[in-house]
Amino acid sequence: MSEGTKKEVIIIGAGASGLLCAIECGKRGRAVLVLDHAARTGSKIRISGGGRCNFTNRNVTPGHYFSRNSHFCKSALARFTPRDVLDLVEKHHIAYHEKEAGQFFCVKSSADIITLLEAECARFGVEIRLKCRVTDIGHGRNFMVATDQGAFRTESLVIATGGLSYPGLGASGLGHAIGKQFGLKVVPPRPGLVPFLFAARDQKVFQELAGISLDTAVSCGAKRFRGNLLFTHRGLSGPVALQASLYWTPGEPLTIDLLPDTDILGEFISRRRSKIEMRNLLAAYLPKRFAEAWCGQMTISKPLDQTSDRELKAIADGLHAWKVLPKRTEGYDTAEVTAGGVDTDELSSKTMEAKKVPGLYFIGEVVDVTGELGGYNLHWAWASGFAAGQNA
Ligand code: FDA
Repeated sequence: MSEGTKKEVIIIGAGASGLLCAIECGKRGRAVLVLDHAARTGSKIRISGGGRCNFTNRNVTPGHYFSRNSHFCKSALARFTPRDVLDLVEKHHIAYHEKEAGQFFCVKSSADIITLLEAECARFGVEIRLKCRVTDIGHGRNFMVATDQGAFRTESLVIATGGLSYPGLGASGLGHAIGKQFGLKVVPPRPGLVPFLFAARDQKVFQELAGISLDTAVSCGAKRFRGNLLFTHRGLSGPVALQASLYWTPGEPLTIDLLPDTDILGEFISRRRSKIEMRNLLAAYLPKRFAEAWCGQMTISKPLDQTSDRELKAIADGLHAWKVLPKRTEGYDTAEVTAGGVDTDELSSKTMEAKKVPGLYFIGEVVDVTGELGGYNLHWAWASGFAAGQNA
């Protein structure tokens, strides 16, 4: 491989983490080159938050992150807080607002965040090369990066290539491959924050309900999420389903409390002598079409006064703990994130540098740290990019 043009820092990936890291390195006077094979910077930022970019969350704490090592994210999160993100956004006069659960969104467009990042990069002399394909990485005294726009060498190589989700937006497995090339462990990647697909039996019963949304609590393992569950033509989506997908392992059922705020057994008992059919009674608490489909699947058809106490208890239990065994998730095509990635055991939690390979850094989604829904993933991208940016 040819020696190539020397840069003090090369960052592969002009997404959220790569650009924030570039700014921080630039502030320290480092000569920074950012390479990306996409035609534009920040493609995922652009589509994030439905085009309004949920760029951080007031409630950022390590408890909102999923990783083999739940402690790893602590140091970076402590050193780059939601207030630091807001300071940057305010400095660029970007209008933002706080929505439910502490989520901060742009008022106008997620493009404002990309403009901010590009402006800060320009201010600190960061060079960005787009449509640049990395063909090889070598390592001698320096790291060598061969591309279709020439060869480069550097002392500090930062991998910010993100995860595998949304392949149409430039996602690739390059970051995981580089990790493996340098002998680092990679936690097997899997789609996260992704809708579920029904198993065949449920598909037949519930496909007619596409578009119905219920206020539920969904449990998966030890985790419980409260919020909207959305029926699609193929399965379950909505914030609670997406959150649950982070903690789901194939073959495990989801437990859905369809009436988290209602003591439904108490309601049954209070109307014990009523001749109302269960499906009609439930239609007072749940959308009618759902109540009918659910009662149909559970073969519940008797009027209340002909249903035994034991049966009522079983129905109430079923409503508070409806078990759904998904076939699988929709996969990377619609996953908001990729869970897994470069094993945090391999990295310094302070600098994101590979312990075995001085000068090689991994930041953002390529690392085995995944946030819940609500701005946590972009916050991890900023915080890990900031951490590496103080050192690379
Ligand atoms: P990111 O994906 O941002 O950047 C990686 C960059 O590397 C890309 O520019 C890519 O082109 C480049 N690259 C990849 N392979 C390469 C290769 N082989 N050669 C050169 N370059 C390469 N999060 C959140 O907190 N709030 C939100 O509102 C949303 N909304 C949202 C919606 C949707 C539809 C998706 C898909 C995702 C979100 N997210 C989100 C998640 C969030 O966008 C994501 O976690 C961060 O962008 C990750 O930042 P990274 O810098 O790690 O990767």
